[in-house]
Amino acid sequence: MISGRGCCLELFMDSLQIGIEVERVAAEISRDYKGRVPVIIGVLNGAFIFVADLLRSLDTSLDVEVDFIQASSYGRSTVAKDEVVIKKDTALSLGGRDVIIVDDIIDRGVTLKHLMGHILAKGALSVKLCALLVRKGRSPLSPEYVGREIEGKGFIVGYGLDYKERLRNLPSIYTVKE
Ligand code: IMP
Ligand code: MG
Repeated sequence: MISGRGCCLELFMDSLQIGIEVERVAAEISRDYKGRVPVIIGVLNGAFIFVADLLRSLDTSLDVEVDFIQASSYGRSTVAKDEVVIKKDTALSLGGRDVIIVDDIIDRGVTLKHLMGHILAKGALSVKLCALLVRKGRSPLSPEYVGREIEGKGFIVGYGLDYKERLRNLPSIYTVKE
């Protein structure tokens, strides 16, 4: 438990447990994309640490290209809105490419559903979804690569995930207890 910031943080996954899930997901991607050159698109800001670790865990024989997209459905509030705004678009040409969109957490799936449509509209051949965390029973999406499912509504921080733009730097993942 970490306290002293006006909130308490209860450990959800330590860096060792995160590493195990990252390695497993990376092995699944390395297996599924063998012989192809997928484009991995990280969703900023939350996924930047996950993407960095995932890339370094992929089989070194797998060639990948990497790009980022920034979307916002939360702003600085923790209350989700349905409108998704693309603040920074991808730079690579995606026509005919196999794309894997990587995000930190899927809650209601609003962000990734919108980004999937956006990337398919750019002519991608295939789009698969990868998320470190997925809230159980909240979204209609079926991501192909999942680190861990979460029960309950507790707000999650650390390892790239923020609470009002802070706490992204924590190496482990915590639930915020106010
Ligand atoms: P969705 O569009 O409802 O699936 O929400 C997903 C986006 O909201 C993620 O990309 C996160 O940036 C953010 N988000 C959702 N739940 C949390 C959380 O518990 N902590 C931090 N960010 C979250
Ligand atoms: Mg996000």
